[in-house]
Amino acid sequence: MQLEQKNVLLGISGGIAAYKTPDLVRKLIAQGANVRVVMTDSAKEFVSSLALQAVSGNKISNSLLDEDAEAAMGHIELARWADIFVIAPATANVMAKLTHGLADDLLTTLALATAAPIAIAPAMNQQMWAAPATTENIQKLQERGVLQIGPASGEQACGDIGYGRMVEPEDIVSFIADYFSDVSEADAIFAGKKIMITAGPTREALDPVRYISNHSSGKMGYALAEAARKMGAQVTLVSGPVSIKPPANVDVVSVTSAQQMHDAVMGNIQQQDIFIACAAVADFRLADVPTHKVKKKEGTLTLSFEQNPDILKTVAAQTNPPFTLGFAAETNDVEAYARNKLERKKLNMIAANDVSSSELGFNSDRNALTVITTDNKISLPAASKYSLAIELLKLLNNEYSTIQNNKKSK
Ligand code: PMT
Repeated sequence: MQLEQKNVLLGISGGIAAYKTPDLVRKLIAQGANVRVVMTDSAKEFVSSLALQAVSGNKISNSLLDEDAEAAMGHIELARWADIFVIAPATANVMAKLTHGLADDLLTTLALATAAPIAIAPAMNQQMWAAPATTENIQKLQERGVLQIGPASGEQACGDIGYGRMVEPEDIVSFIADYFSDVSEADAIFAGKKIMITAGPTREALDPVRYISNHSSGKMGYALAEAARKMGAQVTLVSGPVSIKPPANVDVVSVTSAQQMHDAVMGNIQQQDIFIACAAVADFRLADVPTHKVKKKEGTLTLSFEQNPDILKTVAAQTNPPFTLGFAAETNDVEAYARNKLERKKLNMIAANDVSSSELGFNSDRNALTVITTDNKISLPAASKYSLAIELLKLLNNEYSTIQNNKKSK
């Protein structure tokens, strides 16, 4: 449970996306959060306060002038109670009020009265989101440290297509969990350590203009690189072709094929303390890549493939190997295949990754892992890839430290 005992104050303003807030409350509570809800008058037109009271288990606050509510938990008390104030959906109107410090209802009063961080999940028509006034408001709010969750792009209730949709409840929950799970100076458990991480897919040429590849986006490997860096490591990220931005203060080596990834890893592996193989590396490549574009012909086309080097296995087979963490992306018999890879490749640890669902694993923002060593197995439930990376690195550090201590005591 990523939000155990966190007090989340949820502010709901009047947009169609408010209908998703009972689900948001349920998902926050499922992660261990205590949730209290404050609604504007117009929010009540889109979602029932009774439904929110039922799912949150608390009376809903709406008015500054409600004697009962003030007697139960006054607005200043509520503002102090919050560990985070999340406004979802945040309409253009509410954002404008926050920008200018207006306090003409309970929600905006709480925004001024709380010392807790404020996160907004904007939701509005795409033209309203693009309006210069909204752009200026969001810039000012960001400058003041207000956290922004979305908006997402897509089809809107009014039929328009574009940015302005509230992000889905699970993504709001992941954002809040990431905020609380982020590492601090105290978590610099890898200070002085060098960690190399492979990430993303590889591409194997079929001719000068075509290739075979897979759906890896690089998100899991990049999240590991960012978390490892924040935990004090000097990180080298050997990355296949991806379209995401690399994390700050990480050395990035960009490669295309498995052979190039192998060469980049092996060229620098001697200096590494830890090697994490998160990349989805092509096992085979075309035996002879034509120098010219292959022309269309009648009938079938037969291609002959040869094996690529197994980078992870080669690293683990060295005389003095670094600590090795492999991944095993599988669609069936996930744990059995992962254990087989752990033993066959002689790894210290493997993260079994069930990729049978499109919601997790390849190319999604979330993932779930089962972390296996020779004597241990720990499940890391579905979470954002960044939160998961932090948890995985903590487990890795425990195992790594045990091995180092055993070596010292011999
Ligand atoms: O990039 P994302 O979209 O965020 O998706 C993340 C992910 C699903 C790609 C990632 O979490 C993951 O599971 N990566 C491993 C993918 C994989 O193809 O594993 P594998 O079972 O084929 O290989 C086993 C291990 O050997 C992996 O650590 C792999 O990096 C390594 N390997 C494989 C083949 C090879 N030639 N060299 C290798 O180093």
